[in-house]
Amino acid sequence: MTAIGAVSEIGYVSMLTRDLTASTKNAIDVFGLHETDSTGKKVFLTAQNKHHELVYTQAEEDAVDHIGLVVPSKDELDAVRAKVDRGGYKVVSENPIEDHIEEGFAFVGPEGYTWQIYTEKLPYSMLKRGSLTADRLGHVNIQAIDSHAQRDFLHEVFDFVVSDNIGDEHFFMRCNNDHHGIAVFKAPRTAMHHHAWQAGNIMDLARLGDRLARRGARLAWGPVRHGAGDNIAVYYVEPNGAVIEYYCDMETIRDKNRPERWFDADDLYWINQWDGQVPPGVLDYGVKPVAR
Ligand SMILES: [Fe+2]
Repeated sequence: MTAIGAVSEIGYVSMLTRDLTASTKNAIDVFGLHETDSTGKKVFLTAQNKHHELVYTQAEEDAVDHIGLVVPSKDELDAVRAKVDRGGYKVVSENPIEDHIEEGFAFVGPEGYTWQIYTEKLPYSMLKRGSLTADRLGHVNIQAIDSHAQRDFLHEVFDFVVSDNIGDEHFFMRCNNDHHGIAVFKAPRTAMHHHAWQAGNIMDLARLGDRLARRGARLAWGPVRHGAGDNIAVYYVEPNGAVIEYYCDMETIRDKNRPERWFDADDLYWINQWDGQVPPGVLDYGVKPVAR
């Protein structure tokens, strides 16, 4: 991953769930992640041999606790911290708010999303763990009432840049070669709509559909090929109400200066190249940020 600015990748998503057993079972048995650690009230999961890319904590509510963004070194950590201070954002922890992270801090950004900025020590080689497993966590999709403010914040504090604009409403933003690491959708409420995991190819998406069907469950949407990002994707709703996207074939952007593109928001080609349909209600799922 070649970083554009301070942030090199989307590290993990930490969520609260009212049913830790159901969330964990879904992540392992249906989605194919690996549990690396558990404290009884908290479970750590990954698709790679990282310590975690997904964390669930048993709680009284379903919510997104925070989103972890990786910076390559202490220098970038300090640079982001200086911008957070200048922006007057509320720092909620001078130390990592998640276990198993050595260096980092956490703060609350626009509309109440908590961001954990951290460096991570990785093994010398990253191995794929198995055929049912995603490659890695790829992006998150967050809904914001003021999508412009969220876009500007992600650019100014984390150096994300816009890959694609959907009208003047939604913004697909990247921090590395992936077409988007964070998508910001304008919505009447604030919620993380989905976390998205990269698959090897479209048959992996089909097999997820098969695993769901065998359990009497269903995909919520897809397969679909998006216009923005060009990825083929399927979606389903996990037990805590967040949506999981499983995707492959996303646009890789190697040129840091690749111009922004604009899609017509009214022509649903931007979200569905193949049939221009979005199932009613599918964008209404998601989990609100935990209040801090
Ligand atoms: Fe997505």
